[in-house]
Amino acid sequence: MLASYNLKMPHAVYGGVNAMDNITAIIKAAGAKKVAMFTDPGIEKTGLFALPEAAVKASGVEYYVLDDLKPEPDYMAVQKLIDDFKAQGADLIVACGGGSVMDAAKLASILVTDEYGVKELLDTPGRAKKCVPIVLIPTTAGTGAEVTPNAIVAVPEKQLKVGIVNENMIADYVILDARMIKNLPRKIAAATGVDALAHCIECYTSNKANPLSDTFALHGLDLIINNIIPACDDPEAMDAKNAMQIAAFYGGLAITASGTTGVHALSYPLGGKYHIAHGVSNAILLVPVMKFNEPVCRERFAQCYDRCAHDGSACKTVEEKSAWIISKLGEIVKHLEIPTSLKEFGVPEEDLEGLVQAGMQVTRLLVNNMREITPDDARNIYKQVM
Ligand SMILES: NC(=O)c1ccc[n+]([C@@H]2O[C@H](COP(=O)([O-])OP(=O)(O)OC[C@H]3O[C@@H](n4cnc5c(N)ncnc54)[C@H](O)[C@@H]3O)[C@@H](O)[C@H]2O)c1
Ligand SMILES: [Zn+2]
Repeated sequence: MLASYNLKMPHAVYGGVNAMDNITAIIKAAGAKKVAMFTDPGIEKTGLFALPEAAVKASGVEYYVLDDLKPEPDYMAVQKLIDDFKAQGADLIVACGGGSVMDAAKLASILVTDEYGVKELLDTPGRAKKCVPIVLIPTTAGTGAEVTPNAIVAVPEKQLKVGIVNENMIADYVILDARMIKNLPRKIAAATGVDALAHCIECYTSNKANPLSDTFALHGLDLIINNIIPACDDPEAMDAKNAMQIAAFYGGLAITASGTTGVHALSYPLGGKYHIAHGVSNAILLVPVMKFNEPVCRERFAQCYDRCAHDGSACKTVEEKSAWIISKLGEIVKHLEIPTSLKEFGVPEEDLEGLVQAGMQVTRLLVNNMREITPDDARNIYKQVM
């Protein structure tokens, strides 16, 4: 356990079915005169954006919409959006979307300056200060980006995704409105749900784990293991979807207090070079990395079993409990029909060395892995999924 730790959080979080109604009060409390709304075309197509837009409209404030953003954008695309934002100005940002939209908006909230941009923050993330307060409304469950100090962008020249971490990006207000995830398509619900699952189990088995992150990681894990399948399979399973929304938020809190490990580290090249969706690349690596970690994380996996196994299974030994958890992760990925091989994405065998080199650059997360991952270990793990 770490000797010292901390958890920085948003000013206020509003949850539940009609949580969106709080936007008017937030705009008033922030004294905002002009609001910039961030979203993306996929969300607009579903009609979901109408909800926060109506709430902003009802406040009577001037607003405009920035929606020219592809999923998992590179830093240049995010900078372009931020340049539009800087040209129009605003004194409050309201962002409604998945991790891609929320991360772009978080960067905008600290980049109202001509001194540096997203590119410069890749190397010196700490220099930026909060310029505009921000309201985050997640539509996936999810990245937990609504509560983390991180923003992830693709960096094509490194063939990687890179995390920019700066506590000034922690949201001022978060709105968890169940209507935003009610009709999440199964494929997106599955991939983003497994991302949240990875956040919880990685943070619980991280070198940076501590009592605060453990609380959220373990509770999030319990909720996800026992709700992800109905939440994805059954459009009417609102209790399960609500559980996923809060669990994804807990996963984000666990990241903020602790940090993800080998799965996320080795998955960044898969997103950066082959544009495999973040949740899918984590799903591909989840079981191989957890099996690799098992000898040093066995006790922690057994604690996960004690908290999460409600199916009448009667594992007794630490070894049995640990094996149950790892096999449960595999069952979830399989049931949700998420690809488990890079073949499906046309990754050729000769790219293996490039993957190893790129993965080993993600030292920010590799240092969190309880079992050291050497280049040989990374090669073995990637080989298993080629
Ligand atoms: N900041 C963080 O702490 C953090 C943590 C994990 C991941 N991430 C980053 O977040 C990004 C991924 O975010 P994501 O997984 O939420 O997906 P996303 O934001 O990339 O969205 C994926 C697709 O789903 C669509 N979509 C989103 N919500 C929908 C809904 N309710 N109904 C229908 N379609 C919907 C979007 O339009 C988009 O086409 C990646 O860049 C990843 O690296 C950030
Ligand atoms: Zn993630």
